[in-house]
Amino acid sequence: MDRLTSLVPGVFGRNIICLETVDSTNTLASDLGSGGAIHGTVVIADSQVKGRGRLGRSWISPPRRSIALSILLRPPLKPGDATLLTVLSAVACCRALRSSTTLQVSIKWPNDLVIDDRKIGGILTEVKTEGRKILFAVIGIGINVNSDSGDFPPDLRNIVTSLKAETGRECPRTLITAAILNEIEYWYDILISGGRNSLLREWRTLCSSLGREVIVTIDREIFAGIAEGIDDRGMLLLRISEGTIKTIHSGDVTMLRKSGRTQE
Ligand code: BTN
Repeated sequence: MDRLTSLVPGVFGRNIICLETVDSTNTLASDLGSGGAIHGTVVIADSQVKGRGRLGRSWISPPRRSIALSILLRPPLKPGDATLLTVLSAVACCRALRSSTTLQVSIKWPNDLVIDDRKIGGILTEVKTEGRKILFAVIGIGINVNSDSGDFPPDLRNIVTSLKAETGRECPRTLITAAILNEIEYWYDILISGGRNSLLREWRTLCSSLGREVIVTIDREIFAGIAEGIDDRGMLLLRISEGTIKTIHSGDVTMLRKSGRTQE
């Protein structure tokens, strides 16, 4: 913990709370946010009992083998721009994982970190608003660092991976955590100081779903098309037919593989 603090010299190193086990780092960070905790508070857990993923799913954080962390932010953004916090976290995590491991990590819209279409991590952004103001936001990040395939249920084993599985060796969680926090601070400062376009440009460079055929599921509706890009609030632009672009606010993207197989 002292080591982590010394590796994170900026705002996200000021108040790092490390715990062995917690229900969910996002839930705790949100409770701390409601209690007035400072911008930049970070909650890290060695394992989570009720880790939460997007769309009400659960998230598996095996003890001491993954990164589960949440960051409390008090951003001067409008609620409609909250998706940009996910965009910036995806960019930051992708860059941090690339520089810490040299693996070709990429982003799958909106919040997945993937290697060759297999999920290596995810981001869950939750926002508490009052009227037209964001009171606080919690960015939750889960990375499969040293997880083994047996840590996941059989139905997920073919669609997830870990840094250890990809590199063939154990990877240092503390160094990777520090790299993520430092990158998030870098991109947060860019976003808040009016650099939205630089952030979106970087996201497009790191995204592996653009230009590909995808299927998007929104509740029970299914849309097929080409992932053309994201707009300036981070929404997916899906070309569903010649000349028709649908803006997707939230949903599940399944990439259609060239072989005809699909990958969630
Ligand atoms: C997803 O891909 O569905 C998002 C997964 C986010 C998981 C992280 S782990 C740390 C933080 N605490 C949680 O309960 N969830 C997020």
